[in-house]
Amino acid sequence: MPTVSPRPIILDVDTGVDDAWALVYALRSPALKVLGITTGYGNADVDTTTRNTLLLAELLGSEVPIYRGSAEPLFRAWSGPVPQIHGVNGLGDAPLPLVTRQTADSDAVQYIRDTIRANPGQVTLVTVARLTNVARALLYDPGLAAHIDRIICMGGAAFCPGNVTPTAEANIWGDPEAADLVFRSGIPLTMVGLDVTHQGRLYQRDLAQLDPALPYTELLRRATDFYIEAYIKEDPRNDGWCPLHDPLAVAVAEDPTLVRTERYPVRVEHTGVWTDGMTVVDARWGQTPTGVDVALDLDVDRFLALFRTRVGLL
Ligand code: RIB
Ligand code: CA
Repeated sequence: MPTVSPRPIILDVDTGVDDAWALVYALRSPALKVLGITTGYGNADVDTTTRNTLLLAELLGSEVPIYRGSAEPLFRAWSGPVPQIHGVNGLGDAPLPLVTRQTADSDAVQYIRDTIRANPGQVTLVTVARLTNVARALLYDPGLAAHIDRIICMGGAAFCPGNVTPTAEANIWGDPEAADLVFRSGIPLTMVGLDVTHQGRLYQRDLAQLDPALPYTELLRRATDFYIEAYIKEDPRNDGWCPLHDPLAVAVAEDPTLVRTERYPVRVEHTGVWTDGMTVVDARWGQTPTGVDVALDLDVDRFLALFRTRVGLL
């Protein structure tokens, strides 16, 4: 049997409850080789998201280097954290142990640039946060785009409502100029947006099935309880679940066939009055030979089975 080598990825996060699950998934998957993790502002400020990322890595016993990244969007002021969704500490206000791990010396943008240049055409960027770090790497080294294998981006909403405004999803809305730059860069890009992430659900009852022997179980149970309660408050029809936004992007890096994609031109709105941060997916003339691979359907059963194995849900 031929063996398939693990896919080399850089994971860009704003840890955050669903980012925490994405980290657990990525660092435990034998099908992925996490070369490095880069952090940024978003669900909380960059110091907090970096601390949370270090904590998860430490609990997992991972030595993967972690690079602190952007503290604010490219051209705008940061709109601030979202404690009502991720807690003040970004992890649902669960009590956190002290972290002893440190960040790597280099900055996230330099790391992304150097790693891509050292491995041309080999590395996939999995972004589950604002696209500021990646946009800054492209501004710093405009030739870099040609050497990125693919970006798998948790972000955007193609044919469904947004989650910050009626038209915009948080990771795109949080820095639309950066997203515009990345979406126009010509880098092969899979958009794992709300159209599919809302199909992959983690229920409160699932949390009891997390293997009690794992070092992150107590933390993730508490953090996710908080996160699910936030979703219930937002939508009274929610019967006790949260979307698995960020883990789904990681799962798609492992197995792209989990989602059905269609290729369309996609532009990011950043001057609109009502549509700021909207991913404008132009499907009027049908699919195109170039453009963004927009994920529109998820094989829910296969994704959840894989997710459960990777994170240790018994
Ligand atoms: O819209 C969901 C995305 O925004 C997720 O990546 C979440 O962690 C936040 O960053
Ligand atoms: Ca995130």
